[in-house]
Amino acid sequence: LSQYPHINKGLEGIVAFSTTKSFIDGQEGKLIYAGYTIDTLAENATFEEVCFLLWNDRLPNESELSELKTKLRKERSIPSAVINYLENTSKKAEPMAVLRTAVSMLSDFHEVDTENDKEFYLNKAISITAKIPTIIAAYDRARNNKKIVEPLSDHSTAFNFLYMLNGEEPGDQAEKTMDLCLILHAEHGMNASTFTNRAICSTQSDMYSSVTGAIGALKGPLHGGANQQVMNMLMDIDEQDADPVDYVKGRLKRKEKIMGFGHRVYKTMDPRARILRGMSEKLSRETGHETLYEWSEAILKTMKDEIGIDPNVDFFSATVYYSMGISPDLYTCIFAMSRVSGWTGHYIEQAENNRLVRPRALYTGEKDLDWVPVEER
Ligand code: SDX
Repeated sequence: LSQYPHINKGLEGIVAFSTTKSFIDGQEGKLIYAGYTIDTLAENATFEEVCFLLWNDRLPNESELSELKTKLRKERSIPSAVINYLENTSKKAEPMAVLRTAVSMLSDFHEVDTENDKEFYLNKAISITAKIPTIIAAYDRARNNKKIVEPLSDHSTAFNFLYMLNGEEPGDQAEKTMDLCLILHAEHGMNASTFTNRAICSTQSDMYSSVTGAIGALKGPLHGGANQQVMNMLMDIDEQDADPVDYVKGRLKRKEKIMGFGHRVYKTMDPRARILRGMSEKLSRETGHETLYEWSEAILKTMKDEIGIDPNVDFFSATVYYSMGISPDLYTCIFAMSRVSGWTGHYIEQAENNRLVRPRALYTGEKDLDWVPVEER
């Protein structure tokens, strides 16, 4: 393999695909979904409009949006075999692991791939996107010995999710906050889970396999799993009655990573973190959790002063979800509930212009060793 001498560890700087789904300007801290800045979408869009945008590269007109909402609502129910699994699996399982298994199970109840036209892919994307909130809420209720709440046949994805999770209808503000979180997490270039999803698609495997693999990739603490770890860190500071500045300095001294900070692409503040920061401040104050927000600000300043690193999307989303009364081990599931729109958009894009993903590895082991019989080793 001498013709491939250079390894870009972590594939840093490698451009593997072209995409119309999103653009990140890491120097300026700018994020665009299919032409629209994240600020424009955060201010004006709904999650359902963002789904349409990521699947069709344009915004829907009124009747297209209404048709998409109807289709999503119709697809919210999950097969009874999946409900049985959610009710009977360990109550102590990691929700992301349960979500991964349940999404994989869904494929058993969907027609086998016969045709690969866009309509067929879109219907699958709609079905998976509609069912993920139901799975997350159902498992959370089952593990807490609460009756599973059936999905509603109206209302938004955000409203329905909070309703199924809590067993009561959310207020306007809670629905809007959840909707905004879903918009902010929907798409982000060639992150590890989207890359995994496209690599699986490139083998001509099905969309369920791609999304299942992507959930597995998102689960890790270096990727989507960081939001839960941010909350664990804040809880740890609370339990130790520690000063957040000393706590962070101590961890940096021990060469430990501070979750929710740093990014491969952004060299400045992640624009999603900027929006979530404002939401975190407002919600924390309204719900009496301002201490957590103030600690977050102290941590942010310490990270900037000590090592010049800014927060990413996972940092302030933690306190936003916490203020909404959501269990920390569901935070990454909510990330998946949103990102499925981006994954499936990328799946369709990959399938329409496919080539097998098959990079090379530089072999660094021995060659031409002599065989030694087992009794002589
Ligand atoms: C997401 O890719 C995406 O787009 C992902 C995402 C999306 O929407 O899909 O944006 C969502 O996954 C956000 C990232 C969530 N992860 C974390 O918050 C975990 C903590 N962050 C880091 O481990 C790290 O910053 C990564 C994993 C996010 C990025 O890793 P890189 O690009 O491989 O960077 P690195 O680990 O090589 O860090 C470079 C330097 C190192 O110092 P030196 O060895 O050069 O002296 O920066 C330091 C690191 O030690 N550093 C940190 C740090 N992040 C980087 N030091 C302490 N705490 C951190 N969080």
